[in-house]
Amino acid sequence: GTRVRTRHLQLAKERGEKWAMLTSYDQYTAQIFDEAGIPVLLVGDSAANNVFGYESTLPVTVEEMLPLVRAVVGATKRALIVGDLPFGTYEEGPVQALRTAVRFMKEARCHAVKLEGHRPEQIAAITGAGIPVMAHLGFTPQSEHQLGGYRVQGRGEDAAATVLQQAREAVEAGAFSVVLEMVPGDVAKQVTAELPVPTIGIGAGPDTDAQVLVWQDMAGLRPASAGPTPRFVKKYADLHTVLSEAATAYAAEVREGTFPTATHTF
Ligand code: KIV
Ligand code: NA
Repeated sequence: GTRVRTRHLQLAKERGEKWAMLTSYDQYTAQIFDEAGIPVLLVGDSAANNVFGYESTLPVTVEEMLPLVRAVVGATKRALIVGDLPFGTYEEGPVQALRTAVRFMKEARCHAVKLEGHRPEQIAAITGAGIPVMAHLGFTPQSEHQLGGYRVQGRGEDAAATVLQQAREAVEAGAFSVVLEMVPGDVAKQVTAELPVPTIGIGAGPDTDAQVLVWQDMAGLRPASAGPTPRFVKKYADLHTVLSEAATAYAAEVREGTFPTATHTF
């Protein structure tokens, strides 16, 4: 096979080569991002917000996530596909975590799973079964009610030391990479320097080994009504305008009778 493997990401870190990760939740974006050379695609539980329209990531279920993961795996040839474990499907302990991870691997055939927070026992159980685990520290959206909303984590000496310690323990437990979300740039830089595995930043500055963005944010699909775009997002396209203008033009042509024409007719 020609799939990206976790060892390729490890080699990239050793060579000082940075790489980009994007979320994907469907066939077409998966194929486009795969062909664009994005080496890792995350079927994030951010599907809760960006596919299902929920207000947070908490309600999304394994049953909702698995078909999305299956679609992304099936539409790609090269990217390593990471499935994000939903809230409530791994916190009880290593047995529950492994059971959920196995469902992702068997029923959706992804190549790794991701979970949030300080969970060394869960990471050890899942990696012990031969399943690569991506850890996720700093701001962890599944804990937004405890963290008091979308706020930078790891500010101040003690909090920074906690992020570093939790990252070390995730790696000791077997994690192949660590997402750092909304932590100060200097903290992300230090964690990246000290960890032997790749760090993937989102709102964590330029010094992580890799970056991740939610694809609808990256491509400007998010409507203004979804609230202000976070400061760490860069919009590389304006798909919202492109699609809105396409839909408006199509509807106008149907109303005016200028679509369909003879060329569209059998
Ligand atoms: O679900 C998600 O999109 C994520 C990334 C932002 C890391 O967890
Ligand atoms: Na997530």
